[in-house]
Amino acid sequence: MTSSKKGPAEWTDMRDVASVVLKPGVTGDEVKDLYNQWAKNGYDEHLQDRSLYGALQVLKNTVKDLIPGNKDGMEVLDVGAGTGISGQFMKDIGFKVVDGLDPAEAMLKVADEKRIYRNYHCVFLTDQPLDIPAGTYDLITLCGVMGHGCIPCESFLEMTRLVKPGGYIVNCCRAAQPGRT
Ligand SMILES: C[S@@+](CC[C@H](N)C(=O)[O-])C[C@H]1O[C@@H](n2cnc3c(N)ncnc32)[C@H](O)[C@@H]1O
Repeated sequence: MTSSKKGPAEWTDMRDVASVVLKPGVTGDEVKDLYNQWAKNGYDEHLQDRSLYGALQVLKNTVKDLIPGNKDGMEVLDVGAGTGISGQFMKDIGFKVVDGLDPAEAMLKVADEKRIYRNYHCVFLTDQPLDIPAGTYDLITLCGVMGHGCIPCESFLEMTRLVKPGGYIVNCCRAAQPGRT
């Protein structure tokens, strides 16, 4: 059963998350607060069941296909980094330098305890320029982050500023079909 009345500790299905995070009119601060609560209430444990979140595997396979071979010297920005699960997937396939960007400080704190990221940018990505130089990254990843309550489509313009010429932006979201995660 999905219900927006359930708190993060009771969430068992990505539809529970969507019922809150994708709710019409939700604000960025409400989404940030929810993820801060979820970080302290089992986010990593809930995500252990990868069937809850097939986008992570899609992200990994897509990046492997786009950037095969040696990844030494490449720099990655994981947008909506959360607790670092998506960043760890990038390290697993050979990236050594991965930065994380997320407004939810409790999520980033968990990532920091696991030593996933080099730099931690605790900010919202919006359509406005960030305090990061143009052309910094070879790859920008987003996993389960795009949506009207989280990152606006206009933010792709800022991501194209941050990525190097010829670099990649890889965005993986949950499927929209009922019953799919
Ligand atoms: C479902 S979690 C995904 C975390 C991680 N990528 C993973 O796969 O486990 C979504 C994350 O997006 C973050 N987020 C929400 N709005 C954001 C924004 N405007 N800019 C950057 N991150 C945002 C949330 O704080 C949350 O940590």
